[in-house]
Amino acid sequence: MRVLVFSDADRAGAAAAAEIIAAFRDTPDGVLGVATGSTPEPLYARLRYAHATGALSLAAARAFALDEYVGLPAEHPQRYRNVLRAELVGDHRTGLRDTGLHTPDGLAADPHRAAADYDRDIRAAGGVDLQILGIGANGHIGFNEPGAATAGRTHVGALTEQTRRDNARFFGGELPRVPTHCITQGLGTICEARRILLLAFGARKAEAVRHLVAGEPTPAWPATVLQAHPSVTVFLDAAAAHSLGPDAAVEFVED
Ligand code: GLP
Repeated sequence: MRVLVFSDADRAGAAAAAEIIAAFRDTPDGVLGVATGSTPEPLYARLRYAHATGALSLAAARAFALDEYVGLPAEHPQRYRNVLRAELVGDHRTGLRDTGLHTPDGLAADPHRAAADYDRDIRAAGGVDLQILGIGANGHIGFNEPGAATAGRTHVGALTEQTRRDNARFFGGELPRVPTHCITQGLGTICEARRILLLAFGARKAEAVRHLVAGEPTPAWPATVLQAHPSVTVFLDAAAAHSLGPDAAVEFVED
């Protein structure tokens, strides 16, 4: 695991974007794994800028989301399909086609079956080449909450109270409006991505980052499963790196 520390989130996002731009220059029809939440926003802004200046096109790419809420109406702005459309889809964004964007079907009559279908679709696409990840304050990745099976596949999950509270800001601050369930790629599914770029910003993530980088692997901190992955780069701002001890093997990237 390579750990890079930047002075701020924008610089970290730019560095992660540079990796994606280079990868899709080489392999325009590659498979990008995309995350939601606030963390990837500076990265997505850089991808849009790169598209506007001709440095990137995701027109031939396929993108697979990590997760989706169960039961949000099709037009709901916080449905992750709609969030990712607004960040990435179209010629005025990154060139990604709506047909190239894959998200779990949170409106399926049988969400368990939709989860299994989604896992199969990722494999049928050849797997994820480059996966963007955020991390929850409790160490979740995707929506794999503490205790999730290390080898888990895409499945229906229940959100913890903490995650629902964390995400209430996207629902007008009203906890009852936050869905209780999701479809998420499992930890086993996520770890099949060939390369992983994990971003974490702010002091609220510092404890999860400490476990990710320097803790014992444990289901109590789901992101620690990434310690066994052969190609993970972690992009931090100074606040998220704050709890790593002076001996942590990190690289400080100068402005
Ligand atoms: C959300 C998402 C994750 C995301 C995490 C952190 O609930 N399911 O994919 O990485 O929580 O979110 P944020 O980046 O907004 O802190």
